[in-house]
Amino acid sequence: MRRTIDWADGAVVIIDQTALPGEYRLLHLRTVGELVDAIKRLAVRGAPALGAAGALGVVLAARTSENVHADAELIATARPTAVNLAWGVERAMKKLDQGEDAVLEEALVLLAEDEELNKVASKNAAAIVLAECPRRPLRLLSHCNAGRLATVGWGSALGVVWHLRERGLVEEVLVDETRPLLQGARLTAWELAQANVPYRVQPDGAAAAAMARGMVDCVLVGADRIAANGDVANKIGTYGLAIAAKHHGVPFVVVAPSSTVDRTLATGAGVAIEERDARELTEYAGVRVTPPGTQVFNPAFDVTPHELITAVVTEHGRFAP
Ligand code: MRU
Repeated sequence: MRRTIDWADGAVVIIDQTALPGEYRLLHLRTVGELVDAIKRLAVRGAPALGAAGALGVVLAARTSENVHADAELIATARPTAVNLAWGVERAMKKLDQGEDAVLEEALVLLAEDEELNKVASKNAAAIVLAECPRRPLRLLSHCNAGRLATVGWGSALGVVWHLRERGLVEEVLVDETRPLLQGARLTAWELAQANVPYRVQPDGAAAAAMARGMVDCVLVGADRIAANGDVANKIGTYGLAIAAKHHGVPFVVVAPSSTVDRTLATGAGVAIEERDARELTEYAGVRVTPPGTQVFNPAFDVTPHELITAVVTEHGRFAP
């Protein structure tokens, strides 16, 4: 299976995540402007994949730009919440004085590490899920997309499903559709279908009811930024999911590479939360669904306090706040 994001022939090559599942198409991004636009439109998305985009963006800047530092800043701030984006930019920028080949080499190392570290993190998390959840096979609940498409390859939270599936331990995955941009219904469902894993899509509002009916053994989510105390910023709706899981005694496991940890933040209160375009809510498939002039509250992420989380798991094992 090809990487979600890679470098080929002088371009950043991404699987266009705005087109899936209807169309599988690749985009070749040759300028910093094209890359920044792709990040903002969520053609490439998911914290680890954004880390890769940040590093490869610096390669583009080093090759094409008159002011690499200004372009690096544009890339790093294209979206504010996932710490991986700025982390990827910074890591590549450290090689700038050694020339563009050194920057590319560093970016490619970052990509390879991302695949490997997510595999390890999700393997660690699979062991924790098995220890926390006695039922076999398991019924897992997923929010947003934390699969291959959100990383360079393999996936974080959905990576746990791949590990458990190999051992015949997955009964089904309940997929939150993930309003308003449907990363669950479009992307996670597509990945599960490709892998022949049984799944059902549900509206986000059905998650608590599914737990109340005893349909969920474990909630698995990814992360966009993890504060030093273990608070987790992730796709909007994650916080509510964690409250419902706590209420129903369902383990709530967060899986991420350690590049998502931001030790400069003592708590999740300091995370910058992206607010997105009103039309994501006032329109549905291009058709207006709210009265003219409707105002919206459209945060892309929320922060789940660490007390609600069973385990935050990285490639190093359980994250210690
Ligand atoms: O707005 P998105 O689609 O970039 O949000 C993605 C998420 O919230 C994911 O859960 C997170 O980045 C972890 S992906 C392994």
